[in-house]
Amino acid sequence: MDWRSLATAAIFSCALALPAAAETLRALAQAANIRIGAAVDIPTLNKDPAYAQLLAREFNLLTPENALKFSVVHPQRDRYDFSQADALLAFAEAHHMQVNGHVLVWHQQLPDWLTQGHFSRDELKDILREHIQTLVTRYRGRIASWDVAAEAVAEDGRPRETFWSRGIGADYLALAFRWAHEADPQARLRYNDYGGEGGGAKSDGIYDLVADLRWQGVPISSVGLQMHVAIADAPRAADVRANMQRLAALGLEPDITEMDVMLKQPSNAAALRAQAGVYRDMLQACLAVAQCRSFSTWGATDRYSWIPEFFPGQGTALLFDEEYRPKPAYYSIRRALKASLP
Ligand code: G3I
Repeated sequence: MDWRSLATAAIFSCALALPAAAETLRALAQAANIRIGAAVDIPTLNKDPAYAQLLAREFNLLTPENALKFSVVHPQRDRYDFSQADALLAFAEAHHMQVNGHVLVWHQQLPDWLTQGHFSRDELKDILREHIQTLVTRYRGRIASWDVAAEAVAEDGRPRETFWSRGIGADYLALAFRWAHEADPQARLRYNDYGGEGGGAKSDGIYDLVADLRWQGVPISSVGLQMHVAIADAPRAADVRANMQRLAALGLEPDITEMDVMLKQPSNAAALRAQAGVYRDMLQACLAVAQCRSFSTWGATDRYSWIPEFFPGQGTALLFDEEYRPKPAYYSIRRALKASLP
């Protein structure tokens, strides 16, 4: 490329406010030796090229927002539907991105055939084992990490009573990790939860749960701190760091798996700055703990986010606005990554 085309390319990329290749989040994250991820909605990926382009440019880890959930991937007892998950894998592999499988055992998004099926304990064990091993085997060597279980701890720190705990008993979690490990011994297996990122009863409950799994020799290697927060209830960075350190001391890798920071609508410049500060603080906590291997947000652009539907009046929770323009939070993440480089 001669200087004229270089200059034209530079002007063009400025006009679109595109970061230079070396300055994208994924390039900086790679230099910092962590993964930067986003949750992705596959129907949107299939129909919105700008969304696909944004993901491929800025992230090197993708988590399917819904595509691998039980009701989507296993809609009938004897039928699986891998069309969305296969599309995600193809996209991720074409763009040299890792995929995090989400989620094998969760109490939400379960199909009626399962919840209305009146199955015995043994039948449920068979169903869950088959479900886990079908998914993990299909993507063995291609999905590097799995959220094996999610949200099994209640707000008070005690085990949450769910469809699975009632139907199988307290050992359903240990069984799920063992079955996943059998199907892909190389995959990183994670327990993933929200509301226990810093200190408090839920954080302690999660700690006790995963410590117990470790003591039993269950093949768990990571704990996901989801980090769905609002400015007012975001945990203190020092508490997140301390929590990550105690999990790391158990031999577990604590990752930030689903971060978003919801703002009351309409938001304003001050709120967007405060949001940027929360993103920066949580990323810095991750960067300060060597075992924190990835930092993922739950979506990429405010155009597509679960927040407005689930929290009416709240929104603009992600790194890019509805027109895919980087927000202050994006720049704060970028600066924090850059500052961490030698
Ligand atoms: O399946 C129907 C689809 O057929 C229909 O066209 C569509 C129309 O609205 O609704 C579809 O299902 C919705 C699905 O998202 C796909 O859009 C469900 O009603 C809706 O409940 C579901 O919400 C998801 C939610 O989990 C379910 O609890 C969100 O997208 C997803 O972001 C959210 O993600 C969870 C993580 O998995 C676990 N941690 C918390 C996080 C946020 O709740």
